[in-house]
Amino acid sequence: MKTQLHFNESISWKKGMREKLFIFDTTLRDGEQSPGASMNAAEKIRLATQLEKLGVDIIEAGFPAASEGDFKAVAQVAEKIKTAEVAALARATISDIDRAWEAVSAAAKPRIHTFLATSDIHMKYKLNMNREQVLASAVEAVAYAKRFTDNIEFSAEDGSRSDPDFLCRVFEAVIAAGAKTVNLPDTVGYAIPEEFGDLVRYVLRNTPNIGKAVLSVHCHNDLGLATANTIAAIKAGARQAEVTINGIGERAGNTALEEVVMALNTRPTFVPVTTGIDTRQIYPVSRLVRMITGIVVQPNKAIVGANAFAHEAGIHQDGMLKNPMTYEIMRPETIGLTSNRLIMGKHSGKHALDSKLKNMGYDLSAEELKVIFEKFKALADRKKTVEDEDIEALVNEEILRTSDIFALEYLHVSSGTTVFPTASVKISINGRTVKGFGSGNGPIDAVYNVIAQLTGTKSELLRFSINALTGGTDAQGEVTVRLREDGLVALGKGSDPDIITASANAYINGLNRLEYLKQNPTTTTETL
Ligand code: KIV
Ligand code: ZN
Repeated sequence: MKTQLHFNESISWKKGMREKLFIFDTTLRDGEQSPGASMNAAEKIRLATQLEKLGVDIIEAGFPAASEGDFKAVAQVAEKIKTAEVAALARATISDIDRAWEAVSAAAKPRIHTFLATSDIHMKYKLNMNREQVLASAVEAVAYAKRFTDNIEFSAEDGSRSDPDFLCRVFEAVIAAGAKTVNLPDTVGYAIPEEFGDLVRYVLRNTPNIGKAVLSVHCHNDLGLATANTIAAIKAGARQAEVTINGIGERAGNTALEEVVMALNTRPTFVPVTTGIDTRQIYPVSRLVRMITGIVVQPNKAIVGANAFAHEAGIHQDGMLKNPMTYEIMRPETIGLTSNRLIMGKHSGKHALDSKLKNMGYDLSAEELKVIFEKFKALADRKKTVEDEDIEALVNEEILRTSDIFALEYLHVSSGTTVFPTASVKISINGRTVKGFGSGNGPIDAVYNVIAQLTGTKSELLRFSINALTGGTDAQGEVTVRLREDGLVALGKGSDPDIITASANAYINGLNRLEYLKQNPTTTTETL
C-alpha cells in the first residue's frame, strides 16, 4: 500500500529532489500579539539572533507603525541580522509603508509586508470598502512599496473566508504591481485541512501570474488545526509557511514552527520540500521564547513540551529499552535536547560552563559569561548539583534584566502555623537604601506588601506562579509575575532555592521592567 508508514523514511529519502520551503517566522510580530507578550528591543534582538541561528529565512520583526518602541525595535533588529530577511508589517496605507521602510531599510535583506482584508465580512464591517476599492488599495500599496524595494509581500487578511475568485483577482493584481510573495492567511483559524489544501490548489491554478511569486500561508490555531492546515497547504503547493516558536500568537496562537519543521523532517516522503532549519536549535529557542514572554509551554505540547519525549507506561519503557523506534518517532537530540547532561557543580570551571552554555544554544559575550559564572558559583555553593534548568534560569534572568532602579538588599520573614506572617525588607532605589516592615496573609504576601509600600508602585499583580526548576527539595523555585500599570504589562522572573527570595526577586524584576516600559513603550496591539 502506497501510504504505509515507514519509520526510516528519513533515511531513505533522496535530498536532491526537494523544493525549498521558506520559513517565515513571526514570533516577534504575531507572536508578540499574544496577551502580555510584548518584548523590548533588547529581547527582540536576542530572539532574532537565535532565530537566525535556527536558520529561518525571514524574520518578521514587528509592526513599526504601531508604536515608537516597536519602530525602534524593528530598526535595531534590521541592523543586527545579516543572513535572514527582516520583514516589517504595514497596513495598506502610505504612512504605514513609509514607517515600515524607515524601520527596515538598514537590513541586509529588507522586506515590506503589507496587508488588507479580502473577505466580504471584513470589507463590509471593518473596512467599509467594496471589492473594487480593496483591489485598488492593495495594488496602490504594493506599487508604493515598490519605490523602496522589490521584496514585497502582500497578505489577503481573512483569505480563507474570502471569495476564492476575488482572492485570485487580488493576488494577480498585486503580483502585477510587484509583490514577490502573496500570503493566504487563515486569520481566524476557521479552515479545515482538506478544504484549505483545495483553496491553495485553486489559487495556484486560477492566478495566471502566480509563477512570478511565492505562495505563502499563515494559519491561526483557533480550532487546533494550524499545523494540519499548514501541512495541507504545503502539500498542495504553498512554498512559504508563516509560523511562530511554541505556536504563540493572537488568541489561540499561530502555527508552531517546530511542529511544521519536525513533521516535514520526520515524514520527508510525504511532502518533497526542504527547509534551512537547524533542528538542534529548536529546543533552545523554544526555551528562550518561554523565558522572554513568560508564556509557559503546556507539558504535552508537541515537540517542545516537557513530556514530549517522556515515556511513562511500563510497556512503553520496555519497548524503548529494546529499540527506541518502538515508541519514539524522533530522537530528542534532533531538536537539541541534550541526552548526556553534564552535571555541573562547585568544582566546574568557566570553560566547562561556557561549553555547556554553547551546547544549550547560548552564545554569550565574555562580559555576560563573567556575570553568569559568578552567579553559577554562588548557586553551586548552595546547591549540590546545578542542572541545565538552573543554568538556563541564570542566563535568562540576565537576559531579562533591564537597567535596574530597584534591587533587593535584605529579606527576613517570619511565618508558621501559629505565627502571624511578617516581613522585613531592605531594597535600594537608584542606589539609596530604604527599609520597611509589614504583614500579610502569608510570607510572600507580607514581602510583596512591604515592597509595594517601599517602591510606591501602583501596579496590579495579574499573575503569580511558582514552579520547581528541577526535582528534589533543594530545587530552585522559579517565580513568574505579571504586573500591569496604566495599560502596560511587564513580566518579572526570579529563581532561588529559597522561594520567598525568588518571589521577592521576581516582583522587583517586574517592577524594574515596568519602569523600563514606561520609558520605552513597545508595541500596542490595538492598532491591528
Ligand atoms: O492573521 C493574519 O491575517 C495576519 C496578517 C497580518 C498576515 O497576521
Ligand atoms: Zn496572524
